[in-house]
Amino acid sequence: MPHTVRGVVALAEGAPVETVDVVVPDPGPGEAVVDVRACGVCHTDLHYREGGISDDYPFLLGHEAAGVVSAVGEGVTHVAVGDTVVLNWRAVCGRCRACRRGEPQYCFDTHNAAQRMTLTDGTPLSPALGIGAFAEKTLVHALQCTKVDPGVDPAVAGLLGCGVMAGIGAAVNTAPVRRGQTVAVIGCGGVGCAAVAGAVLAGARRVVAVDLDERKLTWARELGATHTVHSAGMDEGEVVAAVQALTDGFGADVVIDAVGRPETWRQAFYARDLAGTVVLVGVPTPQMTLEVPLLDVFGRGGALKSSWYGDCLPERDFPALLELFAHGRLPLDAFVSERIGLGDVEAAFATMGRGEVLRSVVVLEGAGA
Ligand SMILES: NC(=O)c1ccc[n+]([C@@H]2O[C@H](COP(=O)([O-])OP(=O)(O)OC[C@H]3O[C@@H](n4cnc5c(N)ncnc54)[C@H](O)[C@@H]3O)[C@@H](O)[C@H]2O)c1
Ligand SMILES: [Zn+2]
Ligand SMILES: [Zn+2]
Repeated sequence: MPHTVRGVVALAEGAPVETVDVVVPDPGPGEAVVDVRACGVCHTDLHYREGGISDDYPFLLGHEAAGVVSAVGEGVTHVAVGDTVVLNWRAVCGRCRACRRGEPQYCFDTHNAAQRMTLTDGTPLSPALGIGAFAEKTLVHALQCTKVDPGVDPAVAGLLGCGVMAGIGAAVNTAPVRRGQTVAVIGCGGVGCAAVAGAVLAGARRVVAVDLDERKLTWARELGATHTVHSAGMDEGEVVAAVQALTDGFGADVVIDAVGRPETWRQAFYARDLAGTVVLVGVPTPQMTLEVPLLDVFGRGGALKSSWYGDCLPERDFPALLELFAHGRLPLDAFVSERIGLGDVEAAFATMGRGEVLRSVVVLEGAGA
């Protein structure tokens, strides 16, 4: 029997999100239905609502989630009913050319559920990042579920499903930051602060946090930033100079752009040392373009990288990061700024816009009908 549950949808570009009835089909072959316990509010959900990702409205938002498997389809052996899982949006196929050459983090054919969740009138929903977890239940591909310790706080574990993993992984996997390096992170929201924590975990000797908002810098310092640059009112050159001044005049070995705008990318490009690495983890909009002198690209050397989902492998990274948290070596709970209900997502976008939180997390008690 399909279930009708409450879910948060973006019906049209720019319109506030609404909590409506969503029909979740029974899982088909290879699929799982998960009772969502917690789901963080990520900037990418807002990008969806604003039409910055695609025009496939209506979207079922929410994608950094943890929950409990309530049903599995034919052939699913990877997880079972009752398992506590963190959902991921890059379930690797194991067969594409990236997977075959041993780089499954770049998988070009990741799995999502084959069936669609719908509105009650049958309109198919586009689940954010193939998840759609601002809902009491959601339908995913079973490989989008990574089993974790059932004792973990779902609000904390769910954040690994997107932003926190993207930030930590940008530093640890994509760059990758090596012990003793200098790192700068531009934009210290949930993703950027996670990149700061990742740089610390990887052994960076100096971590410079840059943000327009002083409050974000306070959190970044708590997560291990050694220096901060409050960049409000600064032009691009001043931000670059400030980072250079804090890195012996050279620039940082690794600069992570966790904003994703042409100006922040250029700051990252010029604020890195010669032969350094730029990692773009912030998501640009389709209208954004970049112009830099090609000679600078050539002459400064190094590596210009993009990081999707922190180049993570969920089965490898989620349990390991949760164990570091359990041992007090990674303060994942610091990212949960507030716990809210399903009806509070629109307000949480405003809270995020005002810079008051690292993450608002929707917490659900039980499953729907
Ligand atoms: N690559 C991925 O896999 C991935 C995953 C999750 C999120 N993201 C993206 O990462 C970005 C950050 O997400 P978030 O949830 O941390 O958002 P957020 O809104 O919480 O944080 C953004 C931060 O950037 C700061 N900022 C904005 N403009 C700036 C500027 N010009 N200079 C310095 N700081 C500036 C803001 O003050 C804020 O602190 C978004 O674009 C999001 O879509 C990417
Ligand atoms: Zn693949
Ligand atoms: Zn996200």
